[in-house]
Amino acid sequence: MLWAGTSGSGKTTAVISTLRQAILDPSFGEFHRFVIVDPKVQRGDYDLLSDPITDLGKAIRSMNKNRVTLYWPDYATFDTKTLEEDISYIVDEMFNLSQSKDEPTFTFILDEASIVISPTRVPPSLKRLSVQGRAKGIIPHFISQRPLTNRWMDANLSRVMLFRMLPVDADNLTKRWGVDFVSADETIRAKEYSFIQFDLESATIRNMNPVPLPKRIPKRKQGLRSSKTSFRSKQKTVDYTCFLKKLPIH
Ligand SMILES: Nc1ncnc2c1ncn2[C@@H]1O[C@H](COP(=O)(O)OP(=O)(O)O)[C@@H](O)[C@H]1O
Ligand SMILES: [Mg+2]
Repeated sequence: MLWAGTSGSGKTTAVISTLRQAILDPSFGEFHRFVIVDPKVQRGDYDLLSDPITDLGKAIRSMNKNRVTLYWPDYATFDTKTLEEDISYIVDEMFNLSQSKDEPTFTFILDEASIVISPTRVPPSLKRLSVQGRAKGIIPHFISQRPLTNRWMDANLSRVMLFRMLPVDADNLTKRWGVDFVSADETIRAKEYSFIQFDLESATIRNMNPVPLPKRIPKRKQGLRSSKTSFRSKQKTVDYTCFLKKLPIH
């Protein structure tokens, strides 16, 4: 899944709000893990969901035991290469853990994904995630300012959440899909922080309302265990959009 839109259009806020509900929802099961990489290391964003971890080794260990792991690549040598290496370790660990006894499933979030995904290059770990993740119950969410990041990635997407976009992107999406994204963008711009859900399998658009501003998850709930008997949802992917409100049709 891809969340795309210009800077300040509300992507991160919508992802945090959706994640918050998913984290607190027991139907994701006791062994579902939320793993978030926030290259912006932005206070007041994903740290509303869980305490940030800046040490890669600690983040890797946290993925096994905690429902939510937020990794902040907060170091002086930060660049595309080191971030790519960090992501690669995290992705490998998700695949390793998915084969462990409890067979955990994962929601993986990469904000500012365009730092490592360019039109001409996708890191091998993210290729693996896109192609092999679903069958292992590892669902990636990429957040990016541009909706068409890389032909290779686009081919493996099933859904795009589109926020306010550049006119050139609305034009290109229209050409690519034969769906009117120019008027879709007008609808988005008519209501601040609203967005659309574009389903690539059916080539259909749904208008979505702005999310409520997310509140902090209290500490004692961060390691939430389901009180009901847990069940794994390997094939049954929980649909995040059930947490989002559609816009009433005018
Ligand atoms: N649904 C919303 N309701 C109210 N304010 C919002 C909403 N979404 C975003 N904002 C405001 O806009 C700012 C930028 O949003 P953000 O999610 O960081 O955008 P992006 O990730 O697309 O750059 C937020 O800090 C917040 O103040
Ligand atoms: Mg953002």
